[in-house]
This record gives sequence, C-alpha cells and structure tokens, in this order.
Amino acid sequence: MAVLSLSHIHKDFTVGLRPIFKPPRRLHALRDVTMELERGDIVAVVGESGCGKSTLARIAAGVSDPSSGTIRIQGMDLHAVSRAKARELRRSVQIVHQDPYAALNPTMTVYQALSAPLLIHRMVAKGQVRDRVMELLRMVGLNESHLAKYPNELSGGQRQRVVLARAFTVKPDVIVADEAVSAIDVSMRQTILSVMQRIHDEEGTAYLFITHDLGLARYFAQSGIIAVMYAGRVMEYGDTEAVIKGPRHPYTAILRQAVPDPDPELNQTQDLIPVRSTELPDLTQEETGCAFSARCPFAVDRCMSEVPALRPVAGADGRPVLVACHRAEELELPQEEPEVELA
Ligand SMILES: Nc1ncnc2c1ncn2[C@@H]1O[C@H](COP(=O)(O)OP(=O)(O)O)[C@@H](O)[C@H]1O
Ligand SMILES: [Mg+2]
Repeated sequence: MAVLSLSHIHKDFTVGLRPIFKPPRRLHALRDVTMELERGDIVAVVGESGCGKSTLARIAAGVSDPSSGTIRIQGMDLHAVSRAKARELRRSVQIVHQDPYAALNPTMTVYQALSAPLLIHRMVAKGQVRDRVMELLRMVGLNESHLAKYPNELSGGQRQRVVLARAFTVKPDVIVADEAVSAIDVSMRQTILSVMQRIHDEEGTAYLFITHDLGLARYFAQSGIIAVMYAGRVMEYGDTEAVIKGPRHPYTAILRQAVPDPDPELNQTQDLIPVRSTELPDLTQEETGCAFSARCPFAVDRCMSEVPALRPVAGADGRPVLVACHRAEELELPQEEPEVELA
C-alpha cells in the first residue's frame, strides 16, 4: 500500500487585483499531477524554477491544500477522515526546505528543538527524551557537543542536519525534501545526502526529493523514479536510469544535455538538440496544446492544439515510462551510449 498518494492534483492561485464583475485571474501552478510513494520509494521531482515543485511539495506535506484532487496517506483519503485523524496522518509526511535557518527557531537550542516535538507528540516517555535526542543526533552525524548550541552557532550543513533530525522525531514514513541541499555549501552537500540515504536504508523512509538539478536527481534517485515537470505538469515519469539514459520527452532530453557529462569527450561528440526559447509559458492562460510546444524544436500542429496525455511508452530498457508527448514514439532523441561490458 502506498504511504503517500497524490491523484489528479490541481492547484490554482488567484493573482492580481480582482476585476469587478469578472472572475479573478487564476494561475495554474499544478495540472493533473498524480504520483505514489510506497514505503522506501525515492521519487525525484525535477524541473526549472517556476514549474510547480514547491507547490507540489507543500501539498504533499499537507502545508497547503490542492484546488482539486485526492491525497491519500496510508490509503486513507485526507478529506474522508476526521480532522484529528487527518492531523495524525499528516504527521507521517515531513517536509525539509531549502533554508534550514528559516526552519529553526533562533531562540531554541538543538536540544530544545528536538525534545519539543518528542514531548508534544508523546513519542517517548519523559525519562527517555534525552536518549532519543542523542539517538536522533547520531543518526544525522551530530553529537553531544551540539546539544546546547543555537542555530547561529552552527554551519548551514549542521543546521540542515538538525532540521532532518527534527523531521525524524515523529518517525515519518515520507520526507519531502524541497531543494534541501541547494543552499548548502558544496563541500557539505555530500554529507547531508549520505545521511538522507542512510536513513532511507535503515528506516525505510520514502523520499519525495525535489530539485532543479537533474544530475542531483539522478544521483539521489539512482534506483528510484524520476518525475520531470514543466509548467505544472508531469512530462515524463519512470525509472531514473531509463529516463536519463533514454529520454522520451524532448524536454527531458534538453534538460539532460544541460548537465555536463563527467566524460568531456562525450560532451563534444553528442549532437545537441537546438533550443528555440527559454521562456516559460504564461500559467494564467488556459492550455490549448502542449505547454512545451513553444520551446520544442519538434513541435507540429497537433502539439499546439491538443494537450498531450501522460501515457505509457516503451523506455530505453524496454520497460514502460510515462510520457506526455504526442511524438514520443517517432522522435529519435539522443541516447546514452550503452556501457561496454568488459569480459
Ligand atoms: N502563493 C502564490 N500565489 C501566486 N502564485 C504562486 C504562489 N506560489 C507559487 N506561485 C506560482 O506558481 C508557480 C509555481 O511556483 P513554485 O511551486 O514555487 O515553483 P518551483 O518551486 O518549481 O520554482 C510559479 O509561477 C509561481 O509564481
Ligand atoms: Mg521551489
């Protein structure tokens, strides 16, 4: 059973001043987003700034409500259960944001930040609070020496580890990480990612790992799923390696060619897909066709007049991936060279 399932999620925001006698202008931040996380699943959501990643993160974590669509946690529809039950279910999905400083109360020590949720949610008996705080700190690679520190006495990387430890006080099934390492010094990123990975391996925690960086998505969701978003829609969804090695959506292929390949020779020899524009579509307009068509070098008339459904297409390894492109089968997008097996 899925620990978190989002189905047909739409989110509109009212923008600008409301003209008298006219309906308010609506910005469509999410359009028909569906995804499911089972225990231990890692789903990376990737896409450019403004494509709806943070909106999705907030809805997944219950911080914001969708305009329409259904959220189920452990199989239970949040709208069909009591408020108390919904609150309890929501606790099992915790969010970690980009900025750990904003997430921590500057007047609380590390010990206070971690013990408060343990006490409030009665996660352990009073006598065991200190032991559990120490266990959580060790889980994220911190120790006794950090207990009495205030957020401003910690580095960005240490703060983010405290935020992670705090998310784990309530033993969540799912962590929504919204650009969780984007603001962290490159030197500390690897440590945070390793901590997250280890918690995944040891506790079976599922991750909705959100990033604008395709390379990072590939790294963190190596054996998981990748969801490529554009203008509030999922454009491609499938096993990470299949999607990255053999993208079926032109947008994924274009995102991929922007990620430098570790092998410089490959970069030079690959034919690049020409990019027509980098402008994002106006999300306050009703869709008339594929949102990516204005930027897509392969767009034909149909792409301008018909919104492509997300549908199964054979991926690079033969297994199906979901792709929202009318031309997914006929396009020959650049594929990663298969690795040569050494006998
Ligand atoms: N509270 C809001 N009111 C109006 N528009 C919003 C609001 N939050 C986000 N948006 C808009 O929704 C779109 C998606 O934003 P966001 O989810 O933050 O994207 P991302 O995290 O991928 O950069 C953007 O066009 C953004 O301007
Ligand atoms: Mg964002």
